[in-house]
Amino acid sequence: MKEQIEKAFIENFGRGTFITITTPARANLIGEHIDYQGGYVLPIGVDKFIFTCGRERKDKSIKLFSFNYNQYFETTTDEIRYQKEYPWANYILGVLVEFKKLGNPLPGIEIVIGGNIPVGSGLSSSAAVEISIAVLSQKITGIELEPIEVIKLARRAENEFVGVACGIMDQFSIYLSKKDNALLLNCKTLDYKYVPLRMEGHKFLLVDTKKERSLSSSVYNERVRSVNEAVNIIKKYENIEFLTDVKDIHFYRDKLPYETFKRALHIFEENHRVLESVMSIEKGDTDGFGELMYLSHESLKDLYEVSCEELDFIVGFSKNFKEVKGARLTGAGMGGCCLVLLEGSFIPYFISELTTLYQSAFSKKPEFYEIQPVDGAFYQNLLVSRLQSH
Ligand code: GLA
Repeated sequence: MKEQIEKAFIENFGRGTFITITTPARANLIGEHIDYQGGYVLPIGVDKFIFTCGRERKDKSIKLFSFNYNQYFETTTDEIRYQKEYPWANYILGVLVEFKKLGNPLPGIEIVIGGNIPVGSGLSSSAAVEISIAVLSQKITGIELEPIEVIKLARRAENEFVGVACGIMDQFSIYLSKKDNALLLNCKTLDYKYVPLRMEGHKFLLVDTKKERSLSSSVYNERVRSVNEAVNIIKKYENIEFLTDVKDIHFYRDKLPYETFKRALHIFEENHRVLESVMSIEKGDTDGFGELMYLSHESLKDLYEVSCEELDFIVGFSKNFKEVKGARLTGAGMGGCCLVLLEGSFIPYFISELTTLYQSAFSKKPEFYEIQPVDGAFYQNLLVSRLQSH
């Protein structure tokens, strides 16, 4: 895939010196919809990648080609604006704008971007694009930012330019994940540690529902608003910044509107589940961790209400087999992927049975990705230098 993107770069912009940035996807093991409330999350880098080829231009043009959409877009460094007709370009332009805001003149740039992270599947192809452009911009301009500044910059691009009020988990994990580890991130303090994944004989499998997530960003922003409202009410009783600071959420059962309370209860309990999960994983207790995955899914379905029939079907199916330890929606939900933890030798049977049943229930085929935890973009691109000849 990398070679194809590099070839496309040469076809579009000619030979010479350019660089290629490799950026993985992410899947969250547990801790869903709590990053924007200061909670703990436990994502991994996933071996699906975006490859971004680029180099500086002498003029002020920004020339972008999307390999996957086979679309070309062009503007200049003085005229960067949101592009309704080119949604994919906004994730790039948003980061360039943020780079410009750092105060250094932005050079012209030509970029070809593409890869095999499925779009709309909840594996955060958007954050992968943002991070890849942030890495590329550093290499091209020679400006080196601290890892945390890169992560925050990429998130600001999504919050302010793209307009999704996302938390920091995706950009963080896509940049700093580590091979064979999960990343335990405290989204309030931004402290993190790596948790080695000791799961003898077990694998993570992603089942892509192939459900369109057209409504997802409006539902997402609505949930963010609703939990912010909960914080404002609770602040009258207790000094908190986030829902994860609350001592006992049950105290607020009658003080919050019913629906808001359900959302807050999810956040409170999910946060505890993450720390319990880390203990299970560290003990090599796959059954214990799997159980927490199922509980997390139930909570996202009933309390946070971000699941859908397809995801619930896959989780329900998984519960029939002792070889499957746990399953839950991963990412923002409302479609996208279900993450399944199961015995490796059971995967072929699981895939063939589920495909048949899913197809007859929803008249569409799910897709399956057997995934490995890989290094984030920071580690992937340590050796990429400013001078690479092709
Ligand atoms: C999206 C957001 C993340 C996070 C998840 C849900 O992926 O970008 O910040 O909130 O949803 O956990």
